[in-house]
Amino acid sequence: MIRNLNAIKLLSIFVLCTVIFGTNITKVNAQQLTSRNSTQNSNVKEISISSNRWDNGLAHTPPMGWNSWNHFGCHINEDIIKQTADAIVESGMKEAGYKYIVMDDCWMDDHRDSNGKLTSDPKRFPHGIKWLADYVHKKGLKLGIYSSAGTKTCQGLPASLDHEKTDAQTFASWGIDYLKYDNCYNQDRPLEERYTAMHNALKSVNRSIVFSICEWGVKRPWEWADKLGNLWRTTGDIRDSWESMISILDQQVGLYKYAGPGHWNDPDMLEVGNGGMTDTEYRAHFSLWAILDAPLMAGNDLRHMSSETKNILTNKEVIAVNQDPAGNQGHKVTDNGEQEVWAKKMSDGSVAVILLNRGEDNAFMTTSAKAIGLPSASEYKVRNLWKHQDSSTEDLVRSYVPSHGVAMFRVWAK
Ligand code: GLA
Repeated sequence: MIRNLNAIKLLSIFVLCTVIFGTNITKVNAQQLTSRNSTQNSNVKEISISSNRWDNGLAHTPPMGWNSWNHFGCHINEDIIKQTADAIVESGMKEAGYKYIVMDDCWMDDHRDSNGKLTSDPKRFPHGIKWLADYVHKKGLKLGIYSSAGTKTCQGLPASLDHEKTDAQTFASWGIDYLKYDNCYNQDRPLEERYTAMHNALKSVNRSIVFSICEWGVKRPWEWADKLGNLWRTTGDIRDSWESMISILDQQVGLYKYAGPGHWNDPDMLEVGNGGMTDTEYRAHFSLWAILDAPLMAGNDLRHMSSETKNILTNKEVIAVNQDPAGNQGHKVTDNGEQEVWAKKMSDGSVAVILLNRGEDNAFMTTSAKAIGLPSASEYKVRNLWKHQDSSTEDLVRSYVPSHGVAMFRVWAK
């Protein structure tokens, strides 16, 4: 009797939680789990996990676009944003999937207006943000903006802490589609509380806005930020160097299980084309960000890019790996110090694979169909995603890989 009463109590609490918190019970089948757990784990049983991830219907694949910070820093104005929108269309980047144009820090005036609202810098944005959003929307693109969960932005301008409702309403009234929300001047107030306040404010406005949480990986956001936003930075800021890019890559190991449609790990924006790395290194950077299901936010000056930069950013076969609808983030399969193999299970049963050579010497690298998680077969089709060539193999996937470079393939069991 007592046991029955306890069971009834437990059941009631569970039902109540489901109603109050909108908890979804998500079925995860063996195949999904196997793909998340790479090749080592082939006999996982079907289980149920509960999840209260926020679903605002956005970012079902990693967001693609451009952000002003890596190249322009604080020196932005409406001409740059307009011309970047033009360049995205003319360069073929829009066609390749890039759609969010995000103005980072420094778009705002140094004080709120007489109604307490954020307003754009009148000299650099004389027509205001609504006008800019209209321009960007007419091109079939979307406009993003930046603020901080603090009293000021990282550059010391007005930010949104304790103004969340007003600011979310302002952004919605301008037609903003994406908010990057930073963590400077946070008064040491609890992280989750500050990001929840903006989450609630965004939920209350009549517009769907991608919520990009930028707390730099401080409090393991992969463990909680999917309840609040669509993506979360996992590290501090990227710099335009091989060392910085590789150190960020190293900090992504083990995070693959937290990502999925609508909810992505964000290892920061791309540096491709900014001049601090060679084209070989930029190809590696782009390939790795693609297999990590990272947001592909270009960070260079799109108005003046070399044809090689454009070729890297618009490689549709690499982008298809990133934008695969299953959203199984790739993960590291093997690592011998200088040489690493990364793999990602695709929704059509193929596997995308990167052979990464971090060493100072060119190398000949090898992996196998089994090692990257493919079922056994008499033959495999191999597509080279940078050379755009097909070949076949009975088992081994091999390639010459330049120093600080990658070879990237997609492999199907025949
Ligand atoms: C922080 C963020 C960067 C950028 C700058 C702007 O450092 O992590 O991505 O937004 O602020 O000031």
